[in-house]
Amino acid sequence: MRLLFAVFSGTGNTKRVAERMGEEVRKLGHEAEVYLIRKDAPMPAIEGFDMLVLGYPVHAFNAPKAVVQFLKALPKSEKKMPAYLLRTSGEPSRLNDASGITPRRMLNRRGYEVKGEFVYVMPYNIIFRHSDGMAARMWKAVELRIPRDTAAMLGGAETLKRVNVVRRAAAFVVRIEHPAMPIIGKTFHASKKKCVGCGACQSLCPRGNIRMKNGRPHFGMHCVGCMACAFGCPEDAIKISLLNAWRVNGQYSFEGTPAEDAEVGKYCRKMYLRYFHESEELEEGKEEEKKQ
Ligand SMILES: Cc1cc2nc3c(=O)[nH]c(=O)nc-3n(C[C@H](O)[C@H](O)[C@H](O)COP(=O)(O)O)c2cc1C
Repeated sequence: MRLLFAVFSGTGNTKRVAERMGEEVRKLGHEAEVYLIRKDAPMPAIEGFDMLVLGYPVHAFNAPKAVVQFLKALPKSEKKMPAYLLRTSGEPSRLNDASGITPRRMLNRRGYEVKGEFVYVMPYNIIFRHSDGMAARMWKAVELRIPRDTAAMLGGAETLKRVNVVRRAAAFVVRIEHPAMPIIGKTFHASKKKCVGCGACQSLCPRGNIRMKNGRPHFGMHCVGCMACAFGCPEDAIKISLLNAWRVNGQYSFEGTPAEDAEVGKYCRKMYLRYFHESEELEEGKEEEKKQ
């Protein structure tokens, strides 16, 4: 089987997970290609694939606007190609499941058959910074989930999430982010003191929304709030206007020692612990198998 992972990723979390899943697909003897959804990337030749995996980060309980635009441009599938959603989010909240509604509807209308969804918690790239210990524990959970999820996906398992009315309504209200972000993003700017004019923000922006003029970035009207610029700036020079108090800068290290339960903070503590423990039960399952 040939799988296409079409992935939108602002700060690399979703790309990292999709690449890991692609590796697993290859291990199982299939082909996997990761295509990054960027303004400057030509649409891939979809019909040469047997399965589509759409990867995206949750933005305000929804799929980012860049994903909706990609789906509008996606060629129809004449052969009812099976499709899965793969998403990452900063917290393991069921509210995030509402972000699958629009991609599911759009893909089904375009002739794809959305069979399931896989969700992974990865560190926040806005609002607050997780500790590297938390990032490492999240990555450990991803590593444990991927073999199970990949096997399920290749076997055509149905893993669609149910989304109740309350979650749908919450996601609908905060979808205001889609029209608001281009306006807020237009007012992003670089600190005169910190910016060295390196242009990293311009090359990181998946929307082609940043132009360097006189050694400073200028922001257009195509921002989707992915945070690639502010997160990836080597000088932490990008001010994200109204959202500046929520700015997070600099890559996480996933390789350190995973946080212990006692180090999991108060914020959504129960949810994170449940997600970690569920993932780690997969490891215990493997240990049992080895013993037998
Ligand atoms: C504008 C914006 C809104 C976000 N909203 C949510 C959210 O509603 N729920 C959540 O759990 N995480 C949210 N996040 C966190 C991201 O989903 C998470 O950090 C994701 O792994 C980032 O993936 P990326 O590095 O591929 O862009 C948000 C991030 C951004 C930038």
